[in-house]
Amino acid sequence: MTTVFASTTQTIRPAKNVLGSLRLPGDKSISHRYALLAGLASGTTRLRNFSTGADCASSLGCVAALGAKVLRNDDGSIEVTGVAGNFSAPIDPLDCGNSGSTMRMISGLLASHPHTFTLIGDESLSRRPMERIRKPLAEMGANISLTDGHAPITIHGGPLTGIHYTTPIPSAQVKSAVIFAGMQASGTTTLSEAIRTRDHSEAALRAFGVTLTRTKDSVSITGGQQLHAIEATVPGDISSAAFFLCAAALFPDANLVLDGLGMNPTRAALLDVLTSYGAKISVLNLEEHHGELIGTVQLTMSPSGLTGADLSGVVSAQLIDELPVLSAIAPYSRDGIRIRDAKELRVKESDRIALVARNLRAMGAEVTEYDDGLDVPGGQTLHGAEIDSGGDHRIAMAFSVAALRAQGDTIIHGAESASISFPEFYTMLDQVCDR
Ligand code: S3P
Repeated sequence: MTTVFASTTQTIRPAKNVLGSLRLPGDKSISHRYALLAGLASGTTRLRNFSTGADCASSLGCVAALGAKVLRNDDGSIEVTGVAGNFSAPIDPLDCGNSGSTMRMISGLLASHPHTFTLIGDESLSRRPMERIRKPLAEMGANISLTDGHAPITIHGGPLTGIHYTTPIPSAQVKSAVIFAGMQASGTTTLSEAIRTRDHSEAALRAFGVTLTRTKDSVSITGGQQLHAIEATVPGDISSAAFFLCAAALFPDANLVLDGLGMNPTRAALLDVLTSYGAKISVLNLEEHHGELIGTVQLTMSPSGLTGADLSGVVSAQLIDELPVLSAIAPYSRDGIRIRDAKELRVKESDRIALVARNLRAMGAEVTEYDDGLDVPGGQTLHGAEIDSGGDHRIAMAFSVAALRAQGDTIIHGAESASISFPEFYTMLDQVCDR
């Protein structure tokens, strides 16, 4: 089989230790929500530490195309002056780039506006399933059509009616699309979810002045509510932090401090898993802003090193973005990792189960692939290899971490994909790696 690699490469040399302190760029999920809601709000929203990733730039680009004014200041802060509840008709199709979050969440915001919208994305996004948002939005009365289940999406906006919808898959993007639409529908919309997914939309809506009610497994929102601009500093991205925490977990003498990190409980399962995997984690200086917890995390290792992890059910759903890197470090652990109930990994920016398995094998690891997960035995020795990121940012970064304990250099193909969520990744990795 011939492998065709995506454009730029990055060579990762093995490291002896991971040491130091970092402050990470803003959380991708929160940045998307602030950008989209600011675009629809009245007034000017000011955002510091906004995600530097290309994905969140797609959200800003879309709201700008819908009439919001977006300004990037020299100090890195972003100002968004919203359309006060009325998006204008865009001239061109709305380009969501590689970002499933942009495409799915903005569909919910657009469905009630009296214009026609076309949403497009890159090759990877155009393969990802969109029926999951079309169905509930259509139940609310939206006129929305897909192309064979995917983007391009066409939305003929119009009045919506509140519904009670139970999500068949755990997805914060689907939940957000439904409650964003519900905020502009008549009556009340209730979204039930069997597994509690990240709740940044609920926190962001409240921050922008919207009232909603949350029970253990549902969110209810009444239509006709207005959004009002906010000032906020976006917490550091815990999914980006995962690469550094997992890198540090590979070295018995590691000492890593991450400041200003987002620690929303619906995102922080990683800290529990790493703790039971053998890491010592302390959380300091915990504060709350706009319903989001922010703190300092310090990771050191116990002398016995990484043990093992068995992830399934709710934990797999809550750790969905961290599973590639947890799998990538598993060969170096004592007992390995077992992951199940993670079928959603197959419909992310790439088929992450297949690519993790393929790249681990390229490094000489034994791995068993399942429809909904992976088994990666521990106690293995890996060698440097050529890694195919498949243009997927989390695969490129996960295998840069695996490379730190491999024998020999590793070449990451399609390394530039890290910029989708984390353009500073390779520079920051160099900063904390002792070689
Ligand atoms: C996200 C939700 C998750 C996650 C994605 C970001 C969000 O996707 O994988 O990276 O910001 O809501 P799903 O909602 O499809 O699970």
